[in-house]
Amino acid sequence: MSLYAIGDLHLHYRSVLKAPGQLHGRVWKNHEEKFRKNCGKTVSDDDTLVLVGDHSWGKNLSECEPDLQYICDLPGRKILTRGNHDMFWDAKKTAQLNELYQPRLTFLQDSYEVYNDYALVGTKGFTFEGPFYLDRRGRIVGWDEKEEEHARKLVKRELERLRKSFELAKADGYRKYIMFLHYPPTNILEERSAFTDMAEEYGAEQVIYAHSHGESRFHDSIQGEYRGRIYRLVSGDYLKWKPLQLL
Ligand SMILES: [Fe+2]
Ligand SMILES: [Fe+2]
Repeated sequence: MSLYAIGDLHLHYRSVLKAPGQLHGRVWKNHEEKFRKNCGKTVSDDDTLVLVGDHSWGKNLSECEPDLQYICDLPGRKILTRGNHDMFWDAKKTAQLNELYQPRLTFLQDSYEVYNDYALVGTKGFTFEGPFYLDRRGRIVGWDEKEEEHARKLVKRELERLRKSFELAKADGYRKYIMFLHYPPTNILEERSAFTDMAEEYGAEQVIYAHSHGESRFHDSIQGEYRGRIYRLVSGDYLKWKPLQLL
């Protein structure tokens, strides 16, 4: 029995692919087939696979149905968290999604799931991604302050959701946590953030995140051990479509 994670499948069986530049290239060619095969080799039916957002390009649930069906057909128990591209998933209507897909999929939002003696907690998270203003040498000399102000509000809301997830698990007696985000826990300006602080406050052993695609983005945030926790990037293209074993 093992716990695995991956993010950013960006499936598009029914929807029109409007991928930004970094989602093109060899690694994305037939990526869904590569991932299906890799899961078949590594994930068993008694394993748990956490998919940390950007599941589908679909604009609504009907466009996403074949993508969610693909995830249903993967081995193991599947837990999904929200990404910024998951238009089918209104956070306030998570209960309806769970009703539709239980027991095949679990949509985690304002709640937690159990893996052995661990509580799996999480939310989408948010990081400010600019625009940044650069000088001729490519050094950051400023950024869009309006956008940054907006980002602060989104971060605040996501922190409330994350705390709720932790608190529900804590109230039920859990003391060991794995924390899942879609966005990296820090933006490129930060060494630590309110998300890393919350991971430390509750003593999360691992912080798992995705969203960063393409070589140039893989090191936007923390990887490895940092202030007593392990940080892991699990975007699919970074993992070359092999789910990462967490436990
Ligand atoms: Fe993504
Ligand atoms: Fe994303």
